[in-house]
Amino acid sequence: MVKALVTGGAGFIGSNVVELLIQDGWDVNVLDNLSTGNKELLPQSVNLIIGDIRDKEAVRIAAKDCSVVFHLAAFIVVAESLTKITDCVDINVSGTANVIDVSVKEGIKRIIFSSSSAVYAETAVCPSPETALCKPQSVYGQTKLTGEELMTLASVGCGIETISLRYFNVYGPGQSVVGSYPSVIPSFISRALNNEPLRIFGDGNQTRDFVFVQDVANANVKAAVANMGSIKTTTWNIGCGIPTPIIELANSINSICGQTTDSLTFEPPLQGDIYESCADIQLSKKQIPWKPTISLQDGLQLTYHGWKV
Ligand SMILES: NC(=O)c1ccc[n+]([C@@H]2O[C@H](COP(=O)([O-])OP(=O)(O)OC[C@H]3O[C@@H](n4cnc5c(N)ncnc54)[C@H](O)[C@@H]3O)[C@@H](O)[C@H]2O)c1
Repeated sequence: MVKALVTGGAGFIGSNVVELLIQDGWDVNVLDNLSTGNKELLPQSVNLIIGDIRDKEAVRIAAKDCSVVFHLAAFIVVAESLTKITDCVDINVSGTANVIDVSVKEGIKRIIFSSSSAVYAETAVCPSPETALCKPQSVYGQTKLTGEELMTLASVGCGIETISLRYFNVYGPGQSVVGSYPSVIPSFISRALNNEPLRIFGDGNQTRDFVFVQDVANANVKAAVANMGSIKTTTWNIGCGIPTPIIELANSINSICGQTTDSLTFEPPLQGDIYESCADIQLSKKQIPWKPTISLQDGLQLTYHGWKV
């Protein structure tokens, strides 16, 4: 049986990756410090090692006998990344360096790294292909770009295969209500169910590319077995390729939750919030090959019905 390590496997996206791996017959180790994760999300057959990616010995124990590492553990709150630079860099850069270092030493074949659309410049062409200009607007985005670069350097220098997946706005059942736009869907559902108006920052015409969590998990599992040919390192966008205006999203959520569509309030735009974000997914469609299967309307219904207060 092939064995994988999933760092951050007790989290929102990681637990979906774990579930899919188990369904596909993989043996799975999870390394998670449970800072935001929940061990109840994991099937019993998973070997959970409670530990930190900054602890090299914990990573070594968790990676033993694995052939693939899915690296999802991260400091994820974009808005806090400027006020907690040390924590963010420590986890996302030093922690990622540990994961690479151990993977090389343990003879891991391939690392699938969870990167982000936050690496792209505000002025990047939209929809953004993987070759679009990268100039992160946040410390979080900068640490993800550095993580990608470390992956590439390890492939070139040590021969390990590395794939960076740049997720756009991931959503689905079980996502917690933290931050603002990265978790806009749970924030909107939570307010709608409490009969509160949905808060829109800016004019509402700013767009985001929403991708359902099971599609993201599927991209990870497919990337693990994708034929890379002679290429040792690559980067793929993981989004739907459809820009959705925030006001349209708010109206859909109000309607699903039985709210009137005028239950919206408009507030000044958030500082540093980009206006347009959308993936060009031609490369991932062709090379993984992978494509999203859940429409935003279906995904919102699934998220609403899976809602846990
Ligand atoms: N959710 C999104 O829209 C989105 C978008 C782009 C990229 N990503 C990336 O996807 C990955 C997963 O994000 P998520 O939304 O599932 O977040 P999450 O917080 O639900 O999952 C992160 C997991 O990592 C664990 N963790 C955090 N720091 C750790 C550490 N130092 N050592 C060990 N475990 C640690 C947490 O306990 C949690 O289980 C992250 O790398 C994130 O940057 C997410």
